[in-house]
Amino acid sequence: MNKNINSFEEYKIEYEKSIKNPEEFWEELANNFTWKKKWGKVLSWDFSKPEIKWFEGGKLNIIENCLDRHLETRGEQTAIKWIANNPNEQSRSLSYKELHAEVCKFANVLKNNGAKKGDRICLYMPMVPELAIAVLACARIGAIHSVVFAGFSAKSLSDRINDADCNILITADGGFRGAKITPLKDISDEAMQSTPSIKKCIVFERTKSKISMQIGRDIWWHKEIIKANSDFPAEIMDSEDPLFILYTSGSTGKPKGILHTTAGYMVYAEYSFRNVFQYKEGDVYWCTADIGWITGHSYIVYGPLLAGATTLMFEGVPTYPDAGRFWKIVEENKVNIFYTAPTAIRALEAKGMEFVNPYDLSSLKVLGTVGEPINEDAWRWYDKEIGKENCPIVDTWWQTETGGIMISNLAGITPSKPTFATLPLPGIQPCLVDEKGKEMEGNNVEGRLCIKFPWPSMARTIYGDHQRFKNTYFTAFENKYFTGDGCLRDENGMYRITGRVDDVLIVSGHNLGTAEIESAMDEHENVCETAIVGYPHPIKGNGVYAYIICHNQPEDEERLRKEINDLVTKNVGPIAKADKIQFVSGLPKTRSGKIMRRILRKIAAGESDNLGDISTLLDPSVVDEIKTFVQ
Ligand code: PRX
Repeated sequence: MNKNINSFEEYKIEYEKSIKNPEEFWEELANNFTWKKKWGKVLSWDFSKPEIKWFEGGKLNIIENCLDRHLETRGEQTAIKWIANNPNEQSRSLSYKELHAEVCKFANVLKNNGAKKGDRICLYMPMVPELAIAVLACARIGAIHSVVFAGFSAKSLSDRINDADCNILITADGGFRGAKITPLKDISDEAMQSTPSIKKCIVFERTKSKISMQIGRDIWWHKEIIKANSDFPAEIMDSEDPLFILYTSGSTGKPKGILHTTAGYMVYAEYSFRNVFQYKEGDVYWCTADIGWITGHSYIVYGPLLAGATTLMFEGVPTYPDAGRFWKIVEENKVNIFYTAPTAIRALEAKGMEFVNPYDLSSLKVLGTVGEPINEDAWRWYDKEIGKENCPIVDTWWQTETGGIMISNLAGITPSKPTFATLPLPGIQPCLVDEKGKEMEGNNVEGRLCIKFPWPSMARTIYGDHQRFKNTYFTAFENKYFTGDGCLRDENGMYRITGRVDDVLIVSGHNLGTAEIESAMDEHENVCETAIVGYPHPIKGNGVYAYIICHNQPEDEERLRKEINDLVTKNVGPIAKADKIQFVSGLPKTRSGKIMRRILRKIAAGESDNLGDISTLLDPSVVDEIKTFVQ
């Protein structure tokens, strides 16, 4: 295993080196992997196009690096340890050797069903080892995986399948989540009514739910896998060949298919995993995310396996069968590194210490958070009650688009500060810019967070829409990648993310586009116009607040609220449902017709006494009406 940065001094030296000589820095790290052919140029880039290429000309397969490379040294070591939703169901462990065999078998299943290099394959699955196996098998055959979170609706699923023109869908009969079963095959069936590109649907049997199988199209995983050979030579890929697409919400209704490529992503996922969490040989590492999100891609599957770690995978939810479940899993599996989201921490804190106290958490060495800003109160609780003031907490800032952790302390090595992501990883060059795009020098400044130099795991495009990629990330500020986040830099040069500055809402750590929710609500025949904003929510971080103008005065407001939220569930998914819906007769708009969300946000946050200047509004009187509402 490669050597980790092991002191603050060493971090500073490594950071310096990575800035002065980025190519040499990354080349040295890339040398630690297995290549079929070495690259020519380390980096070529032009943010104005944008075009970014790392390790051009190199040939490799990322799965050889995740699995084959480890067989000799750690073939018997557990690669994936899986914990079922139901605490009485037996857990499963797959050694590197076993995982390798399963991945090869499923790669053969894919091939036998017509999949080939460059195809897009959609995965809509519960958190079972077969999801990881399917991801890895796609990459082994050189197909591009597009994992869709199993909480999304049929419409979201079909939109994503169509956008990427996938030819295979891999799903399950159902998924266990807490006390519920998600009918994944039924949802897939509904989605497949409008996805002409899907030729095969491979169904993993998990819940034994009654489902229908369409002859010729639908096939069972278990029936295919027994016919498959456990040998599959990995497809040879170029460094810049696409590895996966992962959808994220944007400021229009259409989700963006973020595309990541092979070699740069691999080098960065491994490097950031080892250093941020200070992973040591033999550690048991658990990230509670779902593989349907980027955190699961980079830090359940790729990062840990590339580093030869043991990665735990949990099927269920934090509160089932009770709010002690996470801590029970930590105790039973002697988890050393635990990585979760602030929303889970807040939810579990609210349940009380009687769910924590029964468990022995002494195996924990490192804690982490991701996905949204963590408030100081939750940070302190996590530190005191879970870490027993003995575990560094890494607050990791990054995005689907960045592929890996960008700003974070390195556990126990670089300083931490509650609510601060702190310092950039080596190779990452953040900067803050003011509204005019001028870079803000020095400390004690607040602005918009940009990155001014490429890093290996950055997204290369939005699938099928390079212009949108350019417009979203590279046009606001010249020659910089714009993150969409606001951020401050304190007197010591540490970074604190203050939240989104665009139309993306982070709800329970999930990215939701306000436009996406608005267009789902607008489908209701009585809805004329909608404006969505976020408001502070004690558990979710942000709640969804909808202001809605109706065509006709609703007779039964509660019923209408439910119907509107049902449409959101159907079109986006239950995570995007509005927490509050306020019916209004008008929205605060500028003379040019732009909704003043700033005002709506303040009212939703209960700060209506402090609305600032509203004189530029077309009709300032609507504000008075909106302010008087109490739900
Ligand atoms: O606003 C930031 C927030 O989550 C956004 C990225 O969301 P997504 O692409 O879904 O990826 C989430 C998992 C990497 C960011 O633009 N965010 C993520 N991590 C943090 C954060 N905000 C504050 N602190 C963090 N540690």
